[in-house]
Amino acid sequence: MNVSQVAVIGAGTMGNGIAQICAQSGINVTMIDVSEDVARRGLETLSGSLDRLVKKEKISAQDKDDIVSRIKPSASYEDIRGAELIIEAATEKEDLKLKILKQIDELLDANAVIATNTSSISITKLATSVADPGRFVGMHFFNPVPVMKLVELIRGLQTTDETHKLAQAFVEKIGKEPISVKNSPGFVVNRILCPMMNEAIFAYQEGLASAEEIDTGMKLGSNQPIGPLALADLVGLDTLLSVMEVFYDGFKDPKYRPAPLLQEMVDAGFLGRKSGRGFYDYG
Ligand code: 3HC
Repeated sequence: MNVSQVAVIGAGTMGNGIAQICAQSGINVTMIDVSEDVARRGLETLSGSLDRLVKKEKISAQDKDDIVSRIKPSASYEDIRGAELIIEAATEKEDLKLKILKQIDELLDANAVIATNTSSISITKLATSVADPGRFVGMHFFNPVPVMKLVELIRGLQTTDETHKLAQAFVEKIGKEPISVKNSPGFVVNRILCPMMNEAIFAYQEGLASAEEIDTGMKLGSNQPIGPLALADLVGLDTLLSVMEVFYDGFKDPKYRPAPLLQEMVDAGFLGRKSGRGFYDYG
């Protein structure tokens, strides 16, 4: 199946990034969130991202208008009807995702595939909320979606070969590089990356060095593009905390305990770039 109509659930950082790259590849997208306002804000964010591409002369103003015209922001799940692929990119909360997936499943076309952009939750467990777990797959994008080439494709226990193949072809069509990964908490990349960010927060809370020095250390000492604290701010401290909690619960291993300061910052509403404050101030 050649996917030409996609629905993305969630217009936040990941959702609007996914909608953008789909539309840039000529695919029509319905981007759904809790209200028209929130969905429109997602469209404004990606429109700003496209403006930067116009400014750099990577696309023309006409290209931008065409891309934006392919995206329909909506607050109604009814609008997923007709989509061949639905990508769930809601907040990283298991209960919320299960609820949304159930809602999607009731409106789905017979052959449509459901993908989830979860960062860490079991694909097999999320698949229990849909009638046909064979047509369910993990499709994990990285932030910022328009820049990061990788997509992890995760098979749940019941994901069929056909579903996996469709997901693989779709990921390649939108210009990303897929890797196939087994279902396990955090899959591969977050399994390695998130404990590193969490450890950087421990180092910071223990006063080993300033945030700037920790980040400079990792940039200059191990060739990271940005330091782990700046990366935590980019990913979102709430998302990082959710991922660490999934590891801690899933592996029953204390090495994955979230840094207390991470919990405290999330409690304070310091979520990183998206809230204007994390380990750095974003004005
Ligand atoms: N949207 C679109 N393009 C963006 C962007 C965004 N949000 N942010 C940056 N870019 C583009 C810039 O326009 C620029 O493009 P150009 O090279 O064509 O001019 C390019 O990226 C470089 O940007 P900058 O020069 O402004 O800044 P940097 O050199 O610091 O690069 C970065 C930005 C590419 C984000 C770089 O800092 C980086 O690679 N950081 C690490 C990102 C990373 O590791 N992401 C994974 C996080 S884990 C995750 O997402 C999983 C989740 O489940 C938790």
